[in-house]
Amino acid sequence: MQLEVFLEKVSVNHGLNVLVSHLAQAGIEIAALIRQGALQGVTEKMTSTNVQGETQMKLDIRSHELAVAQLRASAVVAGVLSEEEDHPVLFETLDAPFLVSMDPLDGSSNLAINGVVGSIFSVLPNIGVSTLGEQAFLQPGQDQRAAAYLMYGPATLMVLTLGQGTHVFTLDHDSNTFMLTQQTVQIAEETSEFAINASNQRYWAPAMQRYINECLQGADGLRGRDFNMRWCASMVMDVHRILTRGGVFLYPHDCKQPVRAGRLRLLYEANPMSLLVSQAGGESIDGKQPILAIQPDSCHQRVPVLLGAKQEIQRLREYHWQDS
Ligand code: AHG
Ligand code: MN
Ligand code: MN
Ligand code: MN
Repeated sequence: MQLEVFLEKVSVNHGLNVLVSHLAQAGIEIAALIRQGALQGVTEKMTSTNVQGETQMKLDIRSHELAVAQLRASAVVAGVLSEEEDHPVLFETLDAPFLVSMDPLDGSSNLAINGVVGSIFSVLPNIGVSTLGEQAFLQPGQDQRAAAYLMYGPATLMVLTLGQGTHVFTLDHDSNTFMLTQQTVQIAEETSEFAINASNQRYWAPAMQRYINECLQGADGLRGRDFNMRWCASMVMDVHRILTRGGVFLYPHDCKQPVRAGRLRLLYEANPMSLLVSQAGGESIDGKQPILAIQPDSCHQRVPVLLGAKQEIQRLREYHWQDS
């Protein structure tokens, strides 16, 4: 079933359907660019830095521009908050029904090694950007109307939730249409696989040290079974693995960062991924609290992210509360 047919079937919100179709179109354009690799300057770095101080890749900027153009053309979006711009881009359609927060290219360090990258989108209701300005983007994740990521891997995928399950669409490159290939994904409650950047271990809080140590002890320790580890340096790729074969993804608070902050950004990485995971039966916390309940206080704020298989996230929550 084509994405547009699916949308007509499951959603009566015509504006939201139009918006999702434009996200899909942005994904098709970004995918086409990435497939050209070095022929399109995909591996080139810029001299500019973004608000987080990261050196931008040429594709970070190109993806941002393509996505902004599609969202503007949709006419149902009033403004876009992007990782690659200090302040939200506001459109002439200031009273349009939706706002979008986005990571136009996630995992962009993977471009240099021809690895998997993605785009992440969070759709919020427009609660009055014409008077509130960028404050209008500071809504908790539980208020999202939709969330999606595009994954530019061997196949191009769109993984989408409109708040009723999480669904996977695969791009047919011949017809340039996304086809439904997996409906209502369910993350297994139990797992023996975790994803974490272990090079930060010395910075982790005691609760995280305890959890990972127990996993590493495997069958010889308290967990009584061996664990496997993966890390792709692309949240899209890591979360996609969790949606399809289970596991947990952990980017915890570390003491390099200000108190309670992690590496990932709340509004355009943690929130949309948390909605997709929770709609697939998983959970997502910052250590103690559900990510989706956090009231944001700034557009580019960072947050610790622990998400995936329910039983493991419950264990991690217990360890964090015991530590406090
Ligand atoms: P981005 O490329 O959008 O800045 O995001 C990169 C993020 C995320 O995708 C990934 O999980 C994490 O950064 C990788 O962090 P490390 O460099 O610590 O592995
Ligand atoms: Mn970045
Ligand atoms: Mn990212
Ligand atoms: Mn990015």
